Amino acid sequence: MSNALSKAAAARKALDFIRPGMVVGLGTGSTAAFFIRALGEKVKAGLEIEGVPTSEATAALAREVGIKLADINRLDAIDVTVDGADEIDHDLQMIKGGGGALLRERIVASASHRVIIIADDSKLVDAIGKFPLPVEVTLFGAGLTARRLAEVFSHYGIKGEVRMRPGTPGPGPFLTDNRNVIVDCALESLPEPGRVAHQIEHIPGVVTHGLFLGMADIAIIGSESGTRIIGGQAQA
Ligand code: 5RP
Repeated sequence: MSNALSKAAAARKALDFIRPGMVVGLGTGSTAAFFIRALGEKVKAGLEIEGVPTSEATAALAREVGIKLADINRLDAIDVTVDGADEIDHDLQMIKGGGGALLRERIVASASHRVIIIADDSKLVDAIGKFPLPVEVTLFGAGLTARRLAEVFSHYGIKGEVRMRPGTPGPGPFLTDNRNVIVDCALESLPEPGRVAHQIEHIPGVVTHGLFLGMADIAIIGSESGTRIIGGQAQA
């Protein structure tokens, strides 16, 4: 099974967790897109739900497939969010933000009663830290903030390279939906993600980072042999 088929299998399985009337957080990225398209089919068949997008791209896709969007400012909570990940370990610790949507993904996930991560099995790792850690920082002072980040890693003895994500197409940096920039931190190891996250959060100029720790409730991993669920409360 290709990665695409594995992603699609995980995305379809996540539909089991969606009930009529739910407010559903909609993740960003290629795996989340499989879910949004599959959810759109259900909506066309009569399922009534509202979506809360985590990026402009996701909002556009959701509208295209007929999903009604709710204004997050009018909600107290989101029933369930389905999103992808760049890396996830067996304790559901994650690196996210490869697509640059980490701030909205964090806001939506933290307002959700349940967070379901969908991923192909290449994302499942024994320990997170190989995928370059995205950190969203303000454009103002971004170079200085990047140097502060490098200091945190060096304090923990973590070797690696810290660099501004380039725009596609350039020139200039990649800009997030929130008009911030991303600093990608390619690290040789990440021994204490919780402590590192805490230090990063204290750097002025850091908006958020891609270490999503203790946020996922379950993960649905798609592979050649189908899907499997990781996490304590796996019942749909
Ligand atoms: C975007 C994300 C995505 O969930 C993550 O990058 C995974 O993307 P894909 O499903 O395309 O591999 O965090 O900010």
